[in-house]
Formats: sequence, C-alpha cells, structure tokens
Amino acid sequence: MEKTFVMIKPDGVRRKLIGEILSRIEKKGLLINRLEMLMPEIEMLEEHYKEHCEKGFYKDLIQFMTSGKVVAIQVGGKDSISIMRKLIGETDPACASPGTVRGDFANSKTENLIHASDSEEAAKRELKLWFGEV
Ligand code: PPS
Repeated sequence: MEKTFVMIKPDGVRRKLIGEILSRIEKKGLLINRLEMLMPEIEMLEEHYKEHCEKGFYKDLIQFMTSGKVVAIQVGGKDSISIMRKLIGETDPACASPGTVRGDFANSKTENLIHASDSEEAAKRELKLWFGEV
C-alpha cells in the first residue's frame, strides 16, 4: 500500500478544520494510518522545508508553521500520494479548484491549511522525519 505524509498546518487547527479534513480523506477511501498532534520543533520544520530555504517566503513560512500545533498524519492507500495532492488543491488558493481543501477554505499561499508530499521520494523522506519510519 502506498503511503504519504500529510500535515494539517496551524491555521487548520486554529480554525477547527481537523474533522473536516480527516473526513474528506476518509470519504475518499484513504486510510488514516498514523496521526499525532504536536507543537513542532523549529529544527523539524527547517528540515521539512529545506528545499525552500533560499526563497523569499521561507522566514515567514517557518514563523507561521511554528505558531501553533500541527497534525502529522500518515495516509495510506493505492495512489495515495497523487490522490492527496488533488484533494488538497494548488499551493496558491486563488488557483485551487472548488472541492479541494484549499479551494474551499484557504485564501493565502502561506496559511493554506494543509501539506501533502508531492512525490514518492518526498513521502519517504517526510514520513521518516515526522514518524521515524524507514
Ligand atoms: S513553489 O513556489 O514552487 O516553491 O511552491 P511549492 O513547491 O508548491 O510549495 C511551497 C511551500 O511553501 C509554502 N509557502 C509559499 N509558497 C509560495 N509562495 C509563498 N509566498 C509561500 N508562503 C509559504 C507553500 O504553502 C508550500 O508549502 P507546503 O506545505 O509544501 O504545501
């Protein structure tokens, strides 16, 4: 079974959208295999977002991501990586289709509610980082 990493960001927790988001994942037929709510360490987030460290938005992104609790989730199921990417919608909520999490609930590129791994390689790396899985 393919596994992917999903994270509900601090705005999703603050806005009480955890249930809504988990429900969409389950209704799509994917499995919530592991789930943990935590206050993330800055070092974890710097590692998670290291590919963006040269970008102008990086400092604001890390500041936002350390502003509250997140929900780290391991999602499983056939084609779970690509299905989750479709389910969350485009990074920029202005481009995200209605029916996606960001299309329905977000309006900022930074505070866009949810993260999901964008490739098999990223899913392995992120699951190892957040859940210690090899
Ligand atoms: S990009 O522009 O190709 O680097 O964007 P992407 O690879 O889709 O993901 C970038 C992640 O950084 C977050 N972020 C922003 N992206 C673009 N512009 C701004 N201003 C910005 N601020 C924050 C964005 O939400 C992506 O986070 P994740 O968690 O990976 O979805």
